[in-house]
Amino acid sequence: PARRVLCLAGSLRRDSWNRRLLQAAVAQAPATLQLDVYDALSTVPLFDEDLEQREAAGPAGVQALHAAVAAADGLVIATPEYNHAMPGVLKNALDWLSRESPAGDVLAEKPVAVLGASSGPWGTRLAQASLRQVLHTCGALVMPAPTLFVANAASRLDADSTLADLATVQSLQDFLLAFERWIARVAPPLARPEP
Ligand code: FNR
Repeated sequence: PARRVLCLAGSLRRDSWNRRLLQAAVAQAPATLQLDVYDALSTVPLFDEDLEQREAAGPAGVQALHAAVAAADGLVIATPEYNHAMPGVLKNALDWLSRESPAGDVLAEKPVAVLGASSGPWGTRLAQASLRQVLHTCGALVMPAPTLFVANAASRLDADSTLADLATVQSLQDFLLAFERWIARVAPPLARPEP
């Protein structure tokens, strides 16, 4: 069976380069990884401890996110860069995910790979650095290398989520193969009971 990998884009924008990068990753993934792009991040409210305590299991959008992350063998997170850091949308989701839930402590020991695309020339270097720091704090097992910084996204990603640029396709394929090895290295072996 393939490893199930949940892909999160830190942008809610319809034409997000980061979502397109994840859609390209779905198309480029090896058969050993089953990638799914999470499309409900907009249903996650702003973190509020009062909201957390009001409902035992948390708001519905948060429950769904926790359950999706808990069910995944790994996460791929594509972050935009806003003012040299990850966007609030992504930090907010991680803050919710860092909290205990009925699904457990879902980020602890979760294999995670980080990448990102920006319209400018630096390709989310600083956003990825801040994202890694937060993920380490949450106990996630973040793949150290290879890194993937997609700069000047408009020249590398097409509107239909195919990658216009062959070097980026190769980097993405290498990145995904490395993530598969990373999951195999840090996660328990695949052994799921038949339903
Ligand atoms: C940006 N952008 C940006 N780019 C960058 O390389 N470094 C940065 O610090 C910033 N800062 C920044 C702040 C804010 C508030 C916005 C809205 C944008 C540009 C950013 O890379 C571009 O908008 C991307 O297209 C965002 O990613 P998505 O939405 O296409 O996935």
